[in-house]
Amino acid sequence: EISIVILISGSGSNLQAIIDATQSGTIPARIEAVICNKEDAFGLTRAANAGLVTEVISHKNYDSREHFDQALKKVIDQYSPDLVVLAGFMRILTPEFVKHYSGRMLNIHPSLLPKYRGLNTHQRAIEAGESEHGVTVHFVTEELDGGPNVLQARVPISTDESTESLAKKVLRQEHQIYPRAVKWFAQGRLKMNNNQAMLDEKTLPECGEQ
Ligand code: GAR
Repeated sequence: EISIVILISGSGSNLQAIIDATQSGTIPARIEAVICNKEDAFGLTRAANAGLVTEVISHKNYDSREHFDQALKKVIDQYSPDLVVLAGFMRILTPEFVKHYSGRMLNIHPSLLPKYRGLNTHQRAIEAGESEHGVTVHFVTEELDGGPNVLQARVPISTDESTESLAKKVLRQEHQIYPRAVKWFAQGRLKMNNNQAMLDEKTLPECGEQ
């Protein structure tokens, strides 16, 4: 069983999917702590309901990204996690922080990367007239929303699609693929090697690359 620390900023529905998969034994891991940068995030309630340790580190208490990240790192490392899972964690991380967790930090981003890095991905995909959209799980590297892809799921965009309806469809897929990726990592099957994601010693395709 590996140990995991999960970072959140909001509702925590991806956190919930991972909690459920650890409780059912699908993911062979122990969630050591859930860390949140917002004290009123609903995800903290989900974590507490599951009996998990929670920590709040507000970015507002730090005068720079560097200082916030140093504090965050200190708290995370008290739990010596094998894996750090970013589940709707909405802060940009410094290169030093990212390097420290190289090969052991995953993120989920609501777009078919490399398309639509950054914020408001659903709205931007609709406005661009895309016929499909989706979500990507990737290893975190210094490039923002840019590490090697582990898994993607696609959803169609219908003609009358709203940002809300699209976000809902994408979230349903997120809850499928994030636990799967975390399970692979926990089973020792998923690794990052030379900036490439490897599953069972095989290089995963950079799906979505143009
Ligand atoms: C998810 O859609 C996740 O992909 C996105 O935030 C949402 C969090 O939902 N993450 C990002 O945009 C990262 N840049 P949740 O709190 O219910 O899991």
